[in-house]
Amino acid sequence: MENRKVPYRKVVLVCANVRDGGRQACGNPGSGGAEICAALKDGVKKAGLSGQVRVVRSGCLGLCEHGPNVVFLPEGDWLSGVTPADVPELLRKVLV
Ligand code: FES
Repeated sequence: MENRKVPYRKVVLVCANVRDGGRQACGNPGSGGAEICAALKDGVKKAGLSGQVRVVRSGCLGLCEHGPNVVFLPEGDWLSGVTPADVPELLRKVLV
């Protein structure tokens, strides 16, 4: 095992977990998780920050009923109930 420093200035976890069976999940159709993740990845790339900010499509983060959930690291900001309309504001947080 090799211990190394985090190679990114920020890591953004975006839950895009999908579930069958009617249970709420951030990535279920109509929930927005996948769209939010794709838009953030695109925005980071267009801002030329791909080497500094890593947007990660995550599995379940455990607060499904409050989703979609987005987590900013290292800040530790946990945003719930995110919608695709929030992406510009999320990108502003990325650029800080
Ligand atoms: S499905 Fe997103 S937090 Fe569980």
